[in-house]
Amino acid sequence: MVVELHALVQRAQSDVDGASSLDDLEEIERTFIGKKGELTQLKKTLGQLAPDERRAAGQSLNEAVSDIANTVRVRRITLAAAAEAEQLRAERLDLTEAVSDLKRGHLHLVTQARDRLEDVFVGMGFTVAEGPEVETAWYNFEALNIPEWHPARGTFDTIFVDLGEPEEVMMRAHTSPVQIRTMENQEPPIYIVAPGRTFRTDTADATHLPAFNQIEGLVIDRGIGLGDLAGTIDSFVKAFFGHEVKTRLRPSYFPFTEPSAEFDISTPSGDWLELGGCGVVHPAVLQNCGIDPEEWQGFAFGFGIDRLAVMRYQLDDIRELVNNDVRFLSQF
Ligand code: FA5
Repeated sequence: MVVELHALVQRAQSDVDGASSLDDLEEIERTFIGKKGELTQLKKTLGQLAPDERRAAGQSLNEAVSDIANTVRVRRITLAAAAEAEQLRAERLDLTEAVSDLKRGHLHLVTQARDRLEDVFVGMGFTVAEGPEVETAWYNFEALNIPEWHPARGTFDTIFVDLGEPEEVMMRAHTSPVQIRTMENQEPPIYIVAPGRTFRTDTADATHLPAFNQIEGLVIDRGIGLGDLAGTIDSFVKAFFGHEVKTRLRPSYFPFTEPSAEFDISTPSGDWLELGGCGVVHPAVLQNCGIDPEEWQGFAFGFGIDRLAVMRYQLDDIRELVNNDVRFLSQF
C-alpha cells in the first residue's frame, strides 16, 4: 500500500503542477482527496488490514492526503494571483488615450457684451440686480410715474399677457421696473445695474428686435445730481469703448426722470449714435417707493445691450445677433 501511495502522491503532484486554472485545480483536488477521491477510497480498504498494518497504513495515508492538500494550497495561491493579474489587465482603462479634436465654442456676442458691462460697472462700485421678465402694470408703468391715462404708455409698444385684468400683466418693456423693485426692498444708498431681456411689439429691422436686452443703472444717495450722471456715463463709455470715444447728453423726456436726456456716443466717422435714456430720478418715483425725496436724490439710465454690441463689433444689421448663423457668430 505504501508503494501505491507513493505513486499516487507523485501523480497528484505532477497533475497539480500542470493545472492551468483554479477550476482545473479543484477538479484534481476532488480526484485525489475529495469525498469520492482515490485516497478516500483507499481509506475505506484499511478495515481489511491486520490491526498493526492498519495503523502504519493509516498514518501513511494521512501523510499522503496532507502532502497533496499542501501542494494544492501552494498551487492555488499562484493560480489565484495569475487570475487576478489577468482580470486587472482586462479591466484596465487607458486614460492617456488621445481624444479627437473637439471644437470649443464661445459665449454669444450679446452675452460677452453683457458680461463686460457688468465687469465695468462692478469695477465702478455698482452691484448687479435682477427682476422678472413678466411684470404688472405697477412696476412697468405706474410706479414709474406713468399712470393709466399717460400718453407715454403708448410709446412702449407693450406686449400684454392674457392674465388677470386687461392690460394688467405684460412682458416688461424696459428694465426700469427693476429700479422700483430695488427701491422697495433696499434702503439707500443704492448703486445697482440691472441687465436683462425686454420685449416690445417692434417689428425686427436693421436697428430693432422685438426681444432685446437692456441694462438699467440706478444711483440713490445724498446730494446726487445731473453732473454725477454725466460723469458716470462718460467713465463707463470710456472703460467700455476706449478713451477716444466722446459722450453727450441731449434733452429728452421720460416720465420717471426730471430732467431727462438721451445719451449719445461719438462714432469713428464723426457722427453721434444714441445709446439710451437717462435722467435725475423723479421725486414722485422716490415717493412711490417710500423714499423721502427731500433727503435722497439719484439718477437712472437705461440702454440697449444689443445696440451696443452692434456698435462695438461694427455690425450692419442687429438681426445678425439672432439669426444664429454659426459662420457669423464664430468670427467673434
Ligand atoms: C427706455 O426704455 C427707458 N426705460 C430708459 C431709461 C432708463 C430712461 C432710466 C431714463 C432713466 P427707450 O425706450 O428709449 O428708453 O429704450 C432705451 C434703449 O433701448 C434704446 O436707446 C435702444 O438702445 C434700446 N432699444 C429700444 N427698443 C429697441 C428694440 N426694439 N430693439 C433693440 N434695442 C432697442
